[in-house]
Amino acid sequence: MIRSGLHDTDNAAKFSYSSQFPAQSASPLGKLGIEAALEAAADPSITPKPKIFDEFALTDRVGLVSGGNRGLGLEMALACCEAGARVVYCFDLPEKPSDEWIASRDYVAKLGNNSRLEYFSANVTDQQGLWKKTEEIGDKEGRMDFCVAAAGILRSHTDCLEYPAQEYREVLDVNTTGVLFTAQAAGRQMSRFGRGGSIVLIASMSGSITNRGHAWISYNTSKAAVLQMARSMACELGEKKIRVNSLSPGHIYTSMTAAYLDKQPHLFDVWSSMNPLGRLGRPDELRGVVTWLASDASTFCTGSDIIVSGGHHSW
Ligand SMILES: NC(=O)c1ccc[n+]([C@@H]2O[C@H](COP(=O)([O-])OP(=O)(O)OC[C@H]3O[C@@H](n4cnc5c(N)ncnc54)[C@H](O)[C@@H]3O)[C@@H](O)[C@H]2O)c1
Repeated sequence: MIRSGLHDTDNAAKFSYSSQFPAQSASPLGKLGIEAALEAAADPSITPKPKIFDEFALTDRVGLVSGGNRGLGLEMALACCEAGARVVYCFDLPEKPSDEWIASRDYVAKLGNNSRLEYFSANVTDQQGLWKKTEEIGDKEGRMDFCVAAAGILRSHTDCLEYPAQEYREVLDVNTTGVLFTAQAAGRQMSRFGRGGSIVLIASMSGSITNRGHAWISYNTSKAAVLQMARSMACELGEKKIRVNSLSPGHIYTSMTAAYLDKQPHLFDVWSSMNPLGRLGRPDELRGVVTWLASDASTFCTGSDIIVSGGHHSW
């Protein structure tokens, strides 16, 4: 069988390649790239327009972000609003959102693209609470399209042979179990509406390398589990067109890392020297990758770990 559309005219046939297989999927944006060029070659009335940014658009989509009160979670929620999301629901521990969350909400309201940020207080370890709340969101919005599980904690440098049981469990409870509960909450709504979706689990480069000089057994272990969680969920949920990937940042200056850097300023140069770019990352340097993962620009990407670390792994 000939791939649909490619052989509509003799003109197009001159340039096209054929496949004996039926098309298994199609972009919701119509023909893209070479297929669009061939279509335009066959029909001079078509005026080509750039579509690449349309592929990244989140127009009218609904998202959920844990740890969305500040730091990387809030940065990524804001990026998704700029990409056109109808609404991004941020949740976090505090009853009331932070000043930076309020400033971000007001900023989004002024963007003029009908996007909005919402906040609710919840703990990622409360499975039933998250399921219930996201069901209410589903009832209200009628869809759930993307999720960023960004809530996480990092505790103090502690020898692995002495690591206290309670602290170890606490870190795994938030960073691993809480990520699963967040992904479940969003994934259940994605499944309910049957439109597929994209779930981004925020892991860390610490899930696949060990930060030299830091005794972070609980954190590193919790993040390694998230990498496998993404692969495992991706394999189960692919048939529902729900994609699941992990995103692994390197050293980025946020409240989490400030707890180390501000008390031990020499670490700033140490950490900066550990990647080929010779610096820490900025939170805004995750805007592109999260928008790519959440959007139709990444529709064939699932079960992957995307590392954004300034090349830390390369040395
Ligand atoms: N900053 C970095 O260099 C870096 C690097 C790699 C990975 N990460 C990961 O990125 C994510 C965001 O980190 P960040 O740097 O923005 O830190 P952050 O401390 O600024 O943000 C984490 C947020 O998670 C929230 N949170 C913690 N426990 C929670 C719970 N039980 N329920 C709901 N919310 C909870 C916190 O209140 C906070 O707002 C984390 O998962 C972190 O491990 C950060």
